[in-house]
Order: sequence, then structure tokens, then C-alpha cells
Amino acid sequence: MFNRVIITSGPTIEPIDPVRFISNRSSGKTGFHLANEALKRNIPEIIYITGPSCYIPQGVKCFPIETALEMQQHLNTFGPTADVIIMSAAVSDYRVAKYSQLKIKKGQDNLVLELIKNPDLLTELGKKKPTGQILVGYAAETHDIFENARKKFINKNLDMLVLNEVSEQNPAFNTDHNQVYFLFEKETRKIERLDKTQLASLIWDEIETLSGNRKTNHPEC
Ligand code: CTP
Repeated sequence: MFNRVIITSGPTIEPIDPVRFISNRSSGKTGFHLANEALKRNIPEIIYITGPSCYIPQGVKCFPIETALEMQQHLNTFGPTADVIIMSAAVSDYRVAKYSQLKIKKGQDNLVLELIKNPDLLTELGKKKPTGQILVGYAAETHDIFENARKKFINKNLDMLVLNEVSEQNPAFNTDHNQVYFLFEKETRKIERLDKTQLASLIWDEIETLSGNRKTNHPEC
């Protein structure tokens, strides 16, 4: 049904100096399970763009990256011809304004790092989404979760969004289980707590349904 799909996974890391970086708590498990599920469904080409992670699926075309800008390059190359893109990576929103070639030595009691914004890769994909492509994003929210997630769904021009409420009961990062919500154009659905393998399967079922609906709406395509 799909020829080429892209899954981004893991954290990005943004270097500060040769020995330090800024990153986040993503383990890459979500992307790993999504890729394995895509393999089970015999999708011919699975482009897997991943930040540093211990969870690397076998049998996909893997593009290891470190920074958001490196991830952006691969998305620019493969994005326009993908049938489905799932942005499960936790992309760093900021990078340091000036990378230090030399290790920053311990000096004053306070050290201020200037950060500049990374591009929002998913927003860029949403702006140039080709007809028929299915774009799936994630949201990690701690407060006003439905309002924030719906804004992301609209602003990023998504077909589906997987919403994680990050709390003590549902840490979302580096766990094997997750309780999420699915957002679609006209519906928000609560999904009971599942392990990430089952969740990946459910997400692919929804993507297939979205693609089927699209074909029914446009029988000439
Ligand atoms: N994302 C992206 N590029 C970024 C930041 C996020 O493509 N620079 C993508 C993520 O892969 C995810 C979605 O955007 O699919 C939402 O990420 P999230 O961290 O929840 O939200 P942000 O858009 O970064 O907004 P905020 O951090 O303010 O909640």
C-alpha cells in the first residue's frame, strides 16, 4: 500500500563544545517499535532517521544523525517522495548560538549559554506536504494538553497527532508502556495504556485507515 515511509526517532543532540551537548530524555523506543511494525507490514522502503539511541531496528535504511539540522537535510532529501512521515523524534528546539571549538573551562560561578531556535522540521514538512502524503506528529505536553495539541495539529498541517501527557504517572520517555490520545481532523480519542509494540500497531492501523479514506474520497487517484 505504501512504497516509502519515513520515521524519525530518538533525541537530537546539540553540541556545546567538544565534550558537552544539550539533549532530552528520548530513548528512541517509540520510533523503534514503529519501524518494526512497518517491517511486519512489508513496506518496501523504510527510511529511519535517528538521533543517538540503543534501539536501532534491523532491515531499515538507517540514517544516524546528531543535530536537528542534520535531520533536516535527510528530510529534505527523502520527504517529498514519502507516502507517510512519522515525526516521533524529540527534536531539540534550540541549539547553542556559538559552538566552542575548545572545551569551555570552569571559570566564573555563573555561565550563560546563548541558545538560538532550531527550525521546526514538522512545520516545514506540513507547509510543503504533497497531495496524498500522510503526516503524523507527536506532542509531549504537561499542561493545557488538548488545547496545545490541537494548535500543533493545525499549525503543523497534520493528518494525525499522538499526544503524550507527560506526568509522574505517565513519564512517556524511556518507558515500555504509554497512555496517549490520538488527534484527527474531527476527533480526539483516548487510547488506553498499552505497551509500545501494541501502540505502534494501532498507529499503523490508523495510518492505513487514513490512506484508505483518502482513496475513497478521490477514486480517480
Ligand atoms: N518537532 C520538529 N522540530 C522541532 C521541534 C519539534 O519537527 N524543532 C516535531 C516533533 O518531532 C514532534 C512535534 O514537532 O512530532 C511536536 O514536538 P513537541 O516537542 O511536542 O512540540 P514543539 O512543537 O517543539 O513545541 P513546544 O516544545 O513548545 O511544546
